[in-house]
Amino acid sequence: MSASKLFSLDKKVILITGANGQLCRAIAQTLTEFGAYLVLTDKVIDACRKTESKICKSGGKAISLEMDVTDKGSIEKCVDKVLRHFKKIDTLVNNAGMGVFTPFEKRTPEEFDKIMAINAKGAFLCSQVVSKSMIKRRKGNIVNIGSIYGLVAPDQRIYADSGRNCSEVYAMSKAAVIQLTKYLACYLSKYNIRVNCISPGGIFNKQLEKFIRNYSYKTPLRRMGLTKELSGALVYLSSDASEYVTGHNLIVDGGFTCW
Ligand SMILES: NC(=O)c1ccc[n+]([C@@H]2O[C@H](COP(=O)([O-])OP(=O)(O)OC[C@H]3O[C@@H](n4cnc5c(N)ncnc54)[C@H](O)[C@@H]3O)[C@@H](O)[C@H]2O)c1
Repeated sequence: MSASKLFSLDKKVILITGANGQLCRAIAQTLTEFGAYLVLTDKVIDACRKTESKICKSGGKAISLEMDVTDKGSIEKCVDKVLRHFKKIDTLVNNAGMGVFTPFEKRTPEEFDKIMAINAKGAFLCSQVVSKSMIKRRKGNIVNIGSIYGLVAPDQRIYADSGRNCSEVYAMSKAAVIQLTKYLACYLSKYNIRVNCISPGGIFNKQLEKFIRNYSYKTPLRRMGLTKELSGALVYLSSDASEYVTGHNLIVDGGFTCW
């Protein structure tokens, strides 16, 4: 395969959940520059429409559709529309996610259920619905967005009173996403469907100065990540460059989890 084709996403239909959020807003354009057709889905799609409009103006292809990842009916309705429009989905990116920042002692059962429903059940439901058409085609690709906190516990000395503490339920939900990745990689391999995960570290988002200092001190690359720095991992896992990669959790964290 030629070098230029290796990372090509030419005419690959990529459906992204939670596309109204900061991560997708930062990486969508890059995916289209590699040739992808994007389906930007979210419960709220105002920012998706802006991203769509930018992409279309620069000659790319994208559509925005409402989809609630906690509601199987909503996912089925959205996927039906996509299949009518594009005839296929090459890659599903399970990106929708939510955190909660209050401490463990104050966690309510309702908060717990909500975070698990969006982060873990959402990835499960979307994979179940979207993989149906991939199974028929004997081809497909799923990329889950996990987190370093699905792997390690947050160092409480960094978070302290920063107001950004990673909660236990968020960590549990992301561990579930990483395990779902491994399970589905094995289960769906017979249909030629690859399933991988990207686990980002802390992304800079105007956090308090003290928090940024503490976090950067612990990070071998000495800074927080930038949303755009996740695009390389997503292009790699969505393209033929990763043809023989499945069940992998690609950590993009500046080395934060090395020690
Ligand atoms: N930003 C970070 O520092 C960071 C670090 C590690 C992992 N992550 C993960 O990356 C992913 C994207 O993060 P982000 O920074 O873009 O977050 P974000 O909060 O900016 O965006 C998340 C999006 O998910 C959507 N969403 C929430 N509930 C939904 C539902 N029921 N159905 C459909 N969409 C729903 C929201 O509307 C929002 O647009 C998340 O899974 C997050 O956990 C982010």
